[in-house]
Amino acid sequence: MIKGAPIKGFSKLSKEAKIQWLVSEYLNGDESHIDFLNSYLHPEAKVQKLHDEFIENTITNYYLPLGVAPNFLINGRIYALPMAIEESSVVAAAAKSANFWLERGGFSSTVLSTVKIGHVHFMFFGDGNKLNSFIERNKQKFFEDTNHITSNMQSRGGGILDIQLVNKTDQLDGYYQLEARFETCDSMGANFINSCLEQMAKTLTILLAESDEFTESEKEIQVVMRILSNYTPECIVRSEVTCPIDQLNADEEISPKEFAEKFYRAVRIAEIEPYRATTHNKGIFNGIDAVVIATGNDFRAVEAAGHTYASRSGRYSSLTHCDISDGMFRFWIEIPLALGVVGGLTSLHPMVRFSLALLGKPSASELMGIVAASGLAQNFAALRALVTSGIQKGHMKMHLLNILNQLEATDEEKNFFVNYYKDKVVTYSETVRKFCELRGIPVETFAHLHKK
Ligand code: MEV
Repeated sequence: MIKGAPIKGFSKLSKEAKIQWLVSEYLNGDESHIDFLNSYLHPEAKVQKLHDEFIENTITNYYLPLGVAPNFLINGRIYALPMAIEESSVVAAAAKSANFWLERGGFSSTVLSTVKIGHVHFMFFGDGNKLNSFIERNKQKFFEDTNHITSNMQSRGGGILDIQLVNKTDQLDGYYQLEARFETCDSMGANFINSCLEQMAKTLTILLAESDEFTESEKEIQVVMRILSNYTPECIVRSEVTCPIDQLNADEEISPKEFAEKFYRAVRIAEIEPYRATTHNKGIFNGIDAVVIATGNDFRAVEAAGHTYASRSGRYSSLTHCDISDGMFRFWIEIPLALGVVGGLTSLHPMVRFSLALLGKPSASELMGIVAASGLAQNFAALRALVTSGIQKGHMKMHLLNILNQLEATDEEKNFFVNYYKDKVVTYSETVRKFCELRGIPVETFAHLHKK
């Protein structure tokens, strides 16, 4: 039996009617949910309307904290990085890494290339060589027909860089691509690229239909899709930190040399072992996604590109690399990052505008360097903890506040626990036990929290 209620025309209901319907169909008619959802609305109607209109069917706002990791020395400039993220230890870890490298020359970021790619995916069941020479001869027509879309971008130094036919028939019968490479300057460029590709598909269809070089059946190409690729192996940035090994002094319990060796091996393990690489890269994206979200960029696109890039050898591998030779420690990341600082959410979302202002209104290339450094810093912090004291010490310290908030602890109780754990490792069960002892209540009071 199907459970739940279907509805037609949900998007046409007012926000209030949508909420009312959800409450009666899914929330047992409990009207307290209405006040709860309304309590998350922005007090300024104009700002709320902006948020309402970002997506369809908005019922309220969903908050993420915006934290700041200061002291990021990147290419000779000190940034305070805006980070939107829910995971308790991420901003602290970034700030710790930033401080560590601030005293050792900071991060050096270089944009290696900024080209993006899109395809018209189509089927053609004829002579591929003939099609290729036809497209080569008619290339100019694709540029001319897209001129109305590209002229603005061209005046900013971008546009379509080149177009070529790619024959994929060895993998799928009849499958060809019209592959175009784009420079989109300070914008991420998804809409621009997709508009160009849609026009290119039209041009291709018309050119073939009007040509007398092809048979009637050859002319009947099938355009399957016109879409940018989020895999951007030619939109790459590299960020690096380096210092003499003897300046590493990571921890009192481990010498700089031993630290460098263990760190190097931790990176090597992530390079050869996909199980570890996945967690290793997840940690990198803790830093990357947080800045990407704060600056209004598409973190799903960034993640997708990063993971494909990490698999480019045929085996999923680390996005960072390390070298310890000639007495020097070198640690770097190379990653595709298709980012924008104009268009999309960048000028609309008030928090995004703030974040970009905090970064000094960077260009897209500068932002690529900043975001790559935040990923490298996050990975450095994680590996530094993993090869020394372990991550739980720092992790649980940051998580303590979440546990205490779950227990609805007072500020006084929170202060007590910060002191209590100064020389102990935080655990959930010990926090609950001690909390109950302090309040003189049975531990079972919080049994329901365990069940969640
Ligand atoms: C946790 O969010 C991220 C780490 O697991 C990353 C890593 O293991 O490298 C700490």
